[in-house]
Amino acid sequence: MFDAIAPRYDLLNRVLSAGLDQRWRQRAVDAVRLGPKGRVLDLCTGTADLAIAMAERHPDASVTGVDFSGAMLRLGLAKVRSGSLASRVRMVRGDAAAIPVATDSCDAATIAFGIRNVEEPERALAELARVLRPGSQLAILEFGQPRIPGIRTLYASYFRYVLPFIGRMISHHQSAYSYLPASVGTFPPPAEFAKTIERHGFVSVQAVPLTFGIVYLYVASRR
Ligand SMILES: C[S@@+](CC[C@H](N)C(=O)[O-])C[C@H]1O[C@@H](n2cnc3c(N)ncnc32)[C@H](O)[C@@H]1O
Repeated sequence: MFDAIAPRYDLLNRVLSAGLDQRWRQRAVDAVRLGPKGRVLDLCTGTADLAIAMAERHPDASVTGVDFSGAMLRLGLAKVRSGSLASRVRMVRGDAAAIPVATDSCDAATIAFGIRNVEEPERALAELARVLRPGSQLAILEFGQPRIPGIRTLYASYFRYVLPFIGRMISHHQSAYSYLPASVGTFPPPAEFAKTIERHGFVSVQAVPLTFGIVYLYVASRR
């Protein structure tokens, strides 16, 4: 599915979120403390927007973007190269269930709109705990549901009807943008997901609502 939608993925992100998606990624970048020459993993990196934002914020950091979609990675790599970041941002094909990165080798990890998609999110969290060194930070962006009743209803209509329609028109993929609201509907509520993160070796887990709770930013420290 991600290979099929890759060519229009960035455009649809900007259109469907009215440009907010890049601000949400910036919030994840803001949340991560990184020392000099930090090594960052961006899991489910897709077209590398977050990997690039992290590399731009930290000019001496090196970032490894991991994703299992070759088409997404190719587009990401083209963006990395056109931003002259190829010496510090590498794109690696791999599965979140077996991250191709050494144990204790990362000073921070991020994952934007990816954890909901992986088949075994708990295994991905265990893998993130494995590759992060103790005391380092994890930032996860994932869709949520707005808490304010009126906004929740309005947003639900947009998410259920408008978004899949626009997604289908632009991506020419029949189901990808219907899968999005369906998968968000089955994702655990923020407090529950925060506990799941904690169970996998993290402390000081925070779930911060962004834009009325349309998105949550989870920030945690590796124990
Ligand atoms: C919604 S996209 C998010 C991409 C990017 N992080 C962003 O902010 O736009 C989800 C990504 O997760 C990747 N993905 C899903 N399951 C995966 C897995 N098990 N291992 C690696 N990548 C995975 C998909 O290929 C896709 O690129």
